[in-house]
Amino acid sequence: MNVHAPALAKAHTFDEATSVFADDVIENLAQHPKRLSPKYFYDAAGSELFEQITVLPEYYPTRTELGILRGRGNEIADIIPQSAALVEFGAGATTKVRLLLERCDFGAYVPVDISGDFLNAQADALRKDFPGLDVYPVAADFTAPFALPEDITGMAKVGFFPGSTLGNFEPHEARAFLRSAREILGASAQMIIGVDLEKNERVLYDAYNDSAGVTARFNLNVLVRINRELGGNFDLSAFMHRSVYNRDRHRIEMHLISKKSQTVRILGRNFSFRPGESIHTESSYKYSLERFTALACDSGWKVRESWTDQDRMFSVHALAAAD
Ligand code: AVI
Repeated sequence: MNVHAPALAKAHTFDEATSVFADDVIENLAQHPKRLSPKYFYDAAGSELFEQITVLPEYYPTRTELGILRGRGNEIADIIPQSAALVEFGAGATTKVRLLLERCDFGAYVPVDISGDFLNAQADALRKDFPGLDVYPVAADFTAPFALPEDITGMAKVGFFPGSTLGNFEPHEARAFLRSAREILGASAQMIIGVDLEKNERVLYDAYNDSAGVTARFNLNVLVRINRELGGNFDLSAFMHRSVYNRDRHRIEMHLISKKSQTVRILGRNFSFRPGESIHTESSYKYSLERFTALACDSGWKVRESWTDQDRMFSVHALAAAD
């Protein structure tokens, strides 16, 4: 659908998604402090850069979570009811879900993601490799309520939310997501969720300030996207990546820092930056086992089982819907 966004400069006609992006960028760059939502990182280039991050030596979460899923696969399989439908919130690389599909006896797989093209490509690959599995992709924003396919109505439901994506939600958003997932999956549902843990600040700092500069490119890519999709004129060389650990709020923050006094023009509007002024682009919350348990309990779930790696870097939890 082609819609005209009344809030924007008259000359611009955008599709609906770009129009929402434009309004969000303009509203949040006008705030003090300036912000951009981390959801805008993931265009094609950003998704590719994120895949590169997941294999960086400093970025421990992906390989540690994979290690837990591999090592505890049989214990997870013991908990999962036979022939249940596995509902994955977000559809990234299929490595993690394959580990579950190989070890557990699922009757159906429902990947849910806003990007329909990506979803269908992922679904086709899984249908080929798991010929007995029914795959029902759902193109939807999984942070808002959506309907599950009727085909899985009578089946037990198991949610899957790996990667500590929960950590990119503000605490109130994390609670809202878990409550909504509980509603969508229904009574007697279960959920397998990956959550990054609090740890030595140096380890966290290095994970978000890698020596190859991939995280910096990932962060700056959001400005490239604004330039391309909204006709902005950000000078990339005038901003730098910075990640800092905010101990009080248990989160690592990513910022883009203006190197000088400058004005950026987007859709006919000027945004001025002081030297050193930041755009806060992402928070990645790190949980203790106790704080995550409290969050889950406050959101309609009970924690059945929690697994961590030996060094307690990352955790995977099996949740069950509370009565
Ligand atoms: C997707 N998300 C869980 C990643 C994280 O660690 O918060 C995104 C990321 N940001 C910088 N590096 C990776």
